[in-house]
Amino acid sequence: MSDKPKIFLTRELPPETMAILREQSELTMNPEDRYLTKREIIEGVAGVDGLLCLLTDTIDDEILAANPALKVVSNFAVGFNNIDVEAATVRKIPVTNTPGVLTDTTADMAFALLLDAARRVSEGDRFVRTQAWQGWGPLQFLGSDVSNATLGLVGLGRIGRAMLPRAHGFSMKVLYWNRTRLTEQEEASLNVTYCELDDLLKESDFVSVHVALNETTRHLLGAREFALMKPQACLVNSARGPVVDEKALVTALQSGTIAGAGLDVYEQEPLLEPELYELDNVVIAPHLGSGTIGTRTKMGNMAAENCLAACHGQLPPNLVNPQIYA
Ligand code: DGY
Repeated sequence: MSDKPKIFLTRELPPETMAILREQSELTMNPEDRYLTKREIIEGVAGVDGLLCLLTDTIDDEILAANPALKVVSNFAVGFNNIDVEAATVRKIPVTNTPGVLTDTTADMAFALLLDAARRVSEGDRFVRTQAWQGWGPLQFLGSDVSNATLGLVGLGRIGRAMLPRAHGFSMKVLYWNRTRLTEQEEASLNVTYCELDDLLKESDFVSVHVALNETTRHLLGAREFALMKPQACLVNSARGPVVDEKALVTALQSGTIAGAGLDVYEQEPLLEPELYELDNVVIAPHLGSGTIGTRTKMGNMAAENCLAACHGQLPPNLVNPQIYA
């Protein structure tokens, strides 16, 4: 009998990670490149040591109950709002994530959305493809300047901080709002200014969201907050969709309350508020934040390492519920 742990994987990961998992575990997995249903996850998790899942899998107590001997839920993502961590903690199941490895890649994406929304790149691309372009014009597709503008960071965790060198590279002034304020020395060394959220919204030309999704951040930005923003301001969300009230955002974009938005995440992925497909002043990307070959490979290897460690009874390196060992 093999002494390799049994792992269930909910969707194929990059080749390097697949090789690690195939070599070091008895792997069963979703054979197709699609989401599994809850029923399929329940069936898959039965009798295994570890579950390696994705941000698109909702792992609730019913799934955890399907295998009382489960040793780990390893998420292939830094965000873990898709997992009922409280329920896992009650069951003493370690939950792990993939912090750090996707920080720069996600900040690159946030900045790409910011630049695109500001300079109307995707909108111009769509227009040129209609073959209706008659040549350069002094009033065509005028956007907003990014250089020297004010960027408001809602959340200054790893990815929020990674926005700083990018913003400073464009000589932007950076404001931030965060649950915990930095010390004055840290603020000075990072060249950022703390603001209450309302003040940040009033003063920023670009507002970029970098908070985790939890009950205190759900709909953190809605109609009241958009009304505080400048009419020429753009919102960027590369964090989690439900941090922004998507219906209220549509209204704000339609009415000109704000000028534009760059979105990588949505409240009900893969569904969007239908008006977003029609609005020209929004850039809509399909949750690509960590989407590079290098980064997805690092995330996969990290998720595999977390999963294998816990399956072998070791402390997994990226544990989000350390209280289970207390
Ligand atoms: C994460 O890891 O939470 C990201 O959203 C993946 O792109």
